[in-house]
Amino acid sequence: MEQQKKHPPVCADFPHMIHGGDYNPEQWRDTPEIWQEDMRLMKLAGCNEMSVGIFAWAVLEPEEGKFDFSFLDAAMDNVYQAGGRVILATPSGARPHWLADKYPEVLRMNASRTRALFGARHNHCFTSPVYRAKTAGINRRLAERYQDHPALMAWHISNEYGGECHCPLCQQAFRDWLKEKYQGDLEQLNHAWWADFWSHRYTSWEQIESPSPIGEMAVHGHTLDWKRFVTAQTTDFMRNEIAAVKAVTPDIPVTTNLMGFFPGLDYWKMKDELDFISWDSYPDWHSPKQEWEMAAQIAMRHDLNRSLKQKPFFLMESTPSLVNWKLVNKLKRPGMHKLSSLQAVAHGSDSVQYFQWRKSRGSSEKLHGAVVDHCGHEHTRVFRDVAEVGALLQKLDGVVGTMPVSETALIYDWENRWAIDALQGLNENRRYEETCAKHYQPFWRRGISVDVLDRSQDISRYKLVVAPMLYMADAATIGRLVDYVKAGGTLVCTYLTGQVNENDLCWLGGFPGGKLKEVFGLWAEELDSLYPGEQNHAVTPSGESYPVQDYCELVHLEGAEALAVYRDDFYAGMPAVCVHSYGKGKAYYIACRDTGELTDTLYGKIADDLQLARALPNLPEGVTAHMRSGGGESYLFIENYNAHPTAVMLDGAYRNLETDEMLQGEIAIEAYGILVLQKS
Ligand code: GAL
Repeated sequence: MEQQKKHPPVCADFPHMIHGGDYNPEQWRDTPEIWQEDMRLMKLAGCNEMSVGIFAWAVLEPEEGKFDFSFLDAAMDNVYQAGGRVILATPSGARPHWLADKYPEVLRMNASRTRALFGARHNHCFTSPVYRAKTAGINRRLAERYQDHPALMAWHISNEYGGECHCPLCQQAFRDWLKEKYQGDLEQLNHAWWADFWSHRYTSWEQIESPSPIGEMAVHGHTLDWKRFVTAQTTDFMRNEIAAVKAVTPDIPVTTNLMGFFPGLDYWKMKDELDFISWDSYPDWHSPKQEWEMAAQIAMRHDLNRSLKQKPFFLMESTPSLVNWKLVNKLKRPGMHKLSSLQAVAHGSDSVQYFQWRKSRGSSEKLHGAVVDHCGHEHTRVFRDVAEVGALLQKLDGVVGTMPVSETALIYDWENRWAIDALQGLNENRRYEETCAKHYQPFWRRGISVDVLDRSQDISRYKLVVAPMLYMADAATIGRLVDYVKAGGTLVCTYLTGQVNENDLCWLGGFPGGKLKEVFGLWAEELDSLYPGEQNHAVTPSGESYPVQDYCELVHLEGAEALAVYRDDFYAGMPAVCVHSYGKGKAYYIACRDTGELTDTLYGKIADDLQLARALPNLPEGVTAHMRSGGGESYLFIENYNAHPTAVMLDGAYRNLETDEMLQGEIAIEAYGILVLQKS
């Protein structure tokens, strides 16, 4: 596998795997003995980091302009003396009462134009000049106070940005944003939004309102622009927060905790403001779903976070045991804590962090998992699990800064998702993210690394690009895909490809739009939807038959070859899977949604044809492997998601970094086990 450079650690003078999490000493101001006990336990758990200050605004600024940093002074000193570092949060995720009382404009207004009361969190207007000034003010004070504190390793900007505000300030900002986008020309907007439909033509900018259940919800271009605006406005708010800390601490890196494929924000538009990416991961382990399928779904999210900046990322939050907000809040079975924590590392995380260090005594998260339970001591299963992870991470300094190398890119695109979610005509089971995950699984099962990109990224260096349900393909995207295949790339698309442009206007002249028809050597005439439980089959010339469900597109060959045809219905015999040589490359078109076997077989063949590198060949069911390399070293992670021990054949000699043992040949990995090996 290709060797590559090592990335520098987030904190230059602390080149270690980071292990820690959300820590709220402000909740324990009356019991300083608990602060001391926290530090003893922190060392015992092998933790070296605490994320402090998240939601602490009301303690830091109890009255407007009156500050009290005493708890934070102590926390910074205590963590540093215990050998750790602090990721210091800006407190904008929840505001003090006085702020909402005095300046009601900071409270959010919902789409029905009702202003929220004070309460909850993540409930502020991103446009409000007051909120921007107040957040910048407290951020700057934090930066000034701790700029020279040796514990400060990074800024955690706010917490899980998300949500929308529809207040008058946001309406005006939306109009201003649209004016800029459409160069002050309302006719451009009317065209983009296809406004002659249902007499929706705008004759003045002031008529424009955000989508609302008491107003407009059905104009796709409008909905799409609103979502773009929400990302732009949130990013602008975040930029304002970042500017305040950067003005004082230009060299302290900033991040904000993202949320996987959170539908509300397009993270590709936010990533450039951040020095490093971090995210919060809460998988449904031990659900009725196959364990490895959940693992693959989470793996794809880790890969997204790595791909955003093509750099190692941080796992900013995960639970050490269970959460308290799912339908079923299940405990992690023995082994799963280490496995899921190290899974993140296998995909490029340089940290394992938790929500939360110590359970809050009251309020809504008092029964959410934590490293330290209400019993207050270390003699718990969860604490032992955490300490075991800590002990292993302490041996992985060499892994910091290394990266998986991917020859395959999968396109998951936020705007495409918004367009698919909005479109009327598909069944409820449109399932864009899940479909991308299905197309990701065959690579995960084979230990093949995948980068997860949006449609605007450069794809030229990949051997294979997979773009399921790429319904929205603007001219530039089409151009990139055409050039990519022409130059020798292999592209796989599916039903529902290239139907609309960036304004959600249908491409004229047949789908997939523009030159994509030439690339795939076909055109798609109709899309059939199947009822739940209904199936057709895709049958190969040699008679292999694969069940297909939900969607069957009816395509006509114009140069492509059918690799499989439909078995049933009036379109029996029409192509279901096609391939076409175009330029120096190849383009595959999967016209139907299969149940998994078809795509697995097809991607297995493509992986062999392209000789895609595998971290370890011949992986058994439920097991995967990932490799991180850099600076001349390679680290192999082998993960067993089976509830039973599983045998794996190594392809050379390796050193087990946890036990220091040398390994080769056939080895057994315990149930929910993970091995971290260094190639020797
Ligand atoms: C996260 C959030 C944390 C905590 C956690 C519970 O989404 O950032 O503050 O609420 O969920 O799982």
